[in-house]
Amino acid sequence: MNIILMGCPGAGKGTQSAKLKERFDLTHISTGDVLRAEIASGSALGKQVADIINQGNLVPDALMISMLENIVKSTSKGIIFDGFPRTVAQAEALDEMLKRFGREITHVIMIDLPASEVVNRICSRRQCKACKAIVRVDMKQPLEKCPSCGGELYTRADDTEERAKHRLEVYYHDTLPVKSYYENSGKYAVVNGAQTPEQVFENLVQILTK
Ligand code: AP5
Ligand code: MG
Repeated sequence: MNIILMGCPGAGKGTQSAKLKERFDLTHISTGDVLRAEIASGSALGKQVADIINQGNLVPDALMISMLENIVKSTSKGIIFDGFPRTVAQAEALDEMLKRFGREITHVIMIDLPASEVVNRICSRRQCKACKAIVRVDMKQPLEKCPSCGGELYTRADDTEERAKHRLEVYYHDTLPVKSYYENSGKYAVVNGAQTPEQVFENLVQILTK
């Protein structure tokens, strides 16, 4: 099982990937998480991409493709791709790469969320520094500690209203065309991302076990 989870910023890709990883024993590759870890570590790559990510723009394809190849090579488990491919060029490179490794994409699932929900979801998101859990907080009484492990919660630098709107524009311009790349592949499905996380997960499991 090699799954691409598509969807706009805040659609729930990270939330659902964590659940799918547990249920099906998969490797979860979130290119956003990998890039943020590079920035946090102060690496040369992190310094190169920090401004791009914090402004909500896309990191160049060539850099993303070589970064991804190193991760894909290092796992024999099925993979959930979260946040990749984000351009048609990345989708083509992924097909070519997986073919070389004797693998292929088995499912492409779009988590569909209305644009009107995006800013609210993004601005009320926190992530745990310790266990990496993604948390939705009540903006009137924002939590400071992770409800799962008590770790410190932080707000992503690109999670402001202005950046969320910009990321959505980038998504429509560069990433939505990736949908057409897969739509007629026989592997493409859509789930309604405006349901509860549990309902979205149930829909995903139905598709993956069909
Ligand atoms: P990335 O980290 O991938 O960000 P994104 O695509 O904008 O998506 P998000 O992580 O914001 O949302 P999500 O869908 O994971 O939602 P989540 O589950 O957290 O990328 C960040 C940046 O890195 C990019 O802008 C770019 O600069 C760079 N980058 C990454 N990949 C790249 C690539 N391939 N090429 C070039 N550049 C790349 O949920 C959001 C919130 O909603 C949470 O608070 C959650 O609790 C809540 N929530 C989730 N599901 C539900 C639900 N069903 N109901 C209610 N609330 C929910
Ligand atoms: Mg995410």
